[in-house]
Amino acid sequence: MAFYEWTERLSVGIPSIDRQHKTLIGYINTFAEAAQENNGSSAVVIGFVLNNLVSYTKMHFIYEEMLFDRYGYQEEKEHKMHHRKLAVQVEEYYARYKSGDSGFSEDLLSFLMGWLNYHILVDDVAYSGFLSSQGVT
Ligand SMILES: [Fe+2]
Ligand SMILES: [Fe+2]
Repeated sequence: MAFYEWTERLSVGIPSIDRQHKTLIGYINTFAEAAQENNGSSAVVIGFVLNNLVSYTKMHFIYEEMLFDRYGYQEEKEHKMHHRKLAVQVEEYYARYKSGDSGFSEDLLSFLMGWLNYHILVDDVAYSGFLSSQGVT
């Protein structure tokens, strides 16, 4: 069973965004598996996944922010601020990994779960009705 299951409860009702959130969850699951197995290739897998997670997170935030700009989403300022903060935190974890800090896997997993849940269920759900009404799919 996956560490973090995507369920309908996490849907923001916009398929393009749901797909991106599923990809992010996929990275978290791959990370969790590698951290659990803790074998010879785990460190390489973790580095690879973290690198992808940092890039994909940035891309996902840019996508959402382009939609905010295009349709004039009223809460965009606060939402963008949350994106910046999360991007910095993910980068910090990546820097810890690169510096050879080996005790960070559990911290990182609970951080990732927490931020993704908050990002989707609080911040993103808030724009769902507005962007859907603009015809975003
Ligand atoms: Fe999102
Ligand atoms: Fe967001």
